[in-house]
Amino acid sequence: MAYADIHARSIADPNGFWIETAEAIDWVKKPSKALFDDKAPFYEWFADGELNGCWNAVDRHIEAGHGDRLAIIYDSPVTHTKREITYSELQTRVAALAGALAARGIGKGDRVIIYMPMVPEALEAMLACARLGAIHSVVFGGFAAHELAVRIDDATPKAILAASCGVEPGRVVHYKPLLDAAIDQASHKPDLVVMLQREQEPAKLIEGRDVDWYAFQAGTQPADCVPVKGNHPAYILYTSGTTGQPKGVVRPTAGHLVALNWTMKNIYGVSPGEVFWAASDVGWVVGHSYICYGPLVHGNTTVVFEGKPIGTPDAGTFWRVISEHNVRSFFTAPTAFRAIKREDPKGEFVQKYDLSCLRALYLAGERADPDTIRWAEAQLNVPVIDHWWQTETGWAIAANPMGLEAMPVKIGSPSVAMPGYDVRILDEAGYEVPPGTLGAIAIKLPLPPGTLPTLWNAEARFEKSYLTQYPGYYETGDAGMKDEDGYLYIMARTDDVINVAGHRLSTGAMEEVLANHPDIAECAVIGVADPLKGQLPMGFVCLTKGVNRPHAEITQECVALVRDQIGPVAAFKLAVVVDRLPKTRSGKILRATMAKIADGEAFKMPATIDDPAILEEIRGALMSLGYAKAR
Ligand code: COA
Ligand code: AMP
Repeated sequence: MAYADIHARSIADPNGFWIETAEAIDWVKKPSKALFDDKAPFYEWFADGELNGCWNAVDRHIEAGHGDRLAIIYDSPVTHTKREITYSELQTRVAALAGALAARGIGKGDRVIIYMPMVPEALEAMLACARLGAIHSVVFGGFAAHELAVRIDDATPKAILAASCGVEPGRVVHYKPLLDAAIDQASHKPDLVVMLQREQEPAKLIEGRDVDWYAFQAGTQPADCVPVKGNHPAYILYTSGTTGQPKGVVRPTAGHLVALNWTMKNIYGVSPGEVFWAASDVGWVVGHSYICYGPLVHGNTTVVFEGKPIGTPDAGTFWRVISEHNVRSFFTAPTAFRAIKREDPKGEFVQKYDLSCLRALYLAGERADPDTIRWAEAQLNVPVIDHWWQTETGWAIAANPMGLEAMPVKIGSPSVAMPGYDVRILDEAGYEVPPGTLGAIAIKLPLPPGTLPTLWNAEARFEKSYLTQYPGYYETGDAGMKDEDGYLYIMARTDDVINVAGHRLSTGAMEEVLANHPDIAECAVIGVADPLKGQLPMGFVCLTKGVNRPHAEITQECVALVRDQIGPVAAFKLAVVVDRLPKTRSGKILRATMAKIADGEAFKMPATIDDPAILEEIRGALMSLGYAKAR
């Protein structure tokens, strides 16, 4: 069957389509049906089936005779290390780690936080949790102690699995002091910290709480896979919302395995045994779905790459990895390509490597600009596939299903809706708009398997954030349009979320940090366009009456505060002092108008603006930072 038939069937007969698709994974007990809709608008998939995530990602391949196949290739230019791990070795290592965790009382439903860089042990930690039915929550290494503390308090983990340090180009990231500070700040205290000691910076262990990763496994028994229900949460992944409190996206076990397994062949076009590489980080959803679970469930070899597109050591690193490890499908964020293009515009590094193994490049995480797509196509001579998804969905909402039927590429569009996604463009009143018209992108419920059923400990917030604005639909938070052929175009977020170097960040969270500065009375953070990172955050601060310290001193403190509270990943480096902020008469800050001025775009004067003159003051402030155009 070709794409259009499969998509039509998935919408008309979701039960039939997904129960058949679910045959491709292993079950301890098969589900009686696919869709459980008795609590609509809350939906679940495969709820009464039983299975185990680690079995599906690891053990079943050994049972099928593929134990000698490579599961993981670790390639770390920042530590000059390479390692290969077969499926059999992975099973031994994961079962041992899971056994040691079980011996410490960790079992089904317990939460475990993982705070680790891009090392194979991070995947082993995730799989060890899955083996026991424990729910993991990976926290990205670029977040500061406070962000980690917020997640500790929300997930209330029994254990934290961490590495002693991360390695960024030119600096070691001191994970252990960050972890200790986070546990100090959090009200909830984990019983156990398991520390992977890295030779770049071994950590001091706290007696009674911290144990060494390998030493604590001594004398314990390897653990078997524990069956869990289909709707059992495999993990919680926190993502940015509109406030400082991140949203804990819950991922149900069965749905995500079924959906990811389907995507490996049908979207990414790889067969079991082939090498698949997603150059992202385990801390993001791409890392969960396409560094860990997707490739492993499907029996592929996954590449764990600890490095950057440039500077580790040069703009040819990606090409070296592809060529050396025989990568068939490659997935990264457009920012990475913009960084490479800036360093090596003529593609001189590309010429040095034999890239004939590569079949396609996949881009996601942010808007893929046509220039970057064309440059990548010209350099690599393979199709460049933009696809659109979110932490909430866990897999592509729209993509070009290359392994099923390669659709014509339309540059600027992530192509068409994937199975189970009934994507509609709605106006403010919730009515569908004609093709080619901009609107809010919504998905008719139910969402397909693998997508979030709820937010951790926050059902009401889930409903309010996603289901209330357009009853019967999931609100994606993105605006865009659909053309006559059903191709989607993703234009902008409708909320205060910005996308910096493919990383999703909340301007609201940054405002909360700035508002805590004693000299700041009021502030606004907006996203401004950036040629490398897509967007950068920029802060506008109004000072408390009577404060007359140098503005440069205060803005430097703002930058330091955001780095300290949220982390370096926020990339908050632009701040300016202004007298007033532009507002509506009801007091709402006109952030979208400010962003348009910053980017030099035309804007309509908001009818409800309190004092239009303020916009000129904002333009002046922006021009002092090298943004906005004179009128
Ligand atoms: N641990 C600790 N710090 C981290 C980190 C991590 N895992 N990842 C990033 N940081 C730090 C960086 O060192 C940098 O710190 P600095 O301000 O001291 O320089 C800061 O966070 C900002 O990082 P980033 O926005 O990534 O910028 P960069 O200048 O280091 O690198 C790119 C620019 C384009 C090379 C990089 O952003 C990149 O590779 N992007 C790909 C995006 C991606 O994989 N996204 C995942 C979703 S698919
Ligand atoms: P995250 O949850 O971090 O994956 O971020 C999801 C958001 O990133 C989406 O809601 C979009 O705003 C944006 N995004 C992801 N992929 C694309 C894409 N291919 N094109 C445009 N925007 C994208």
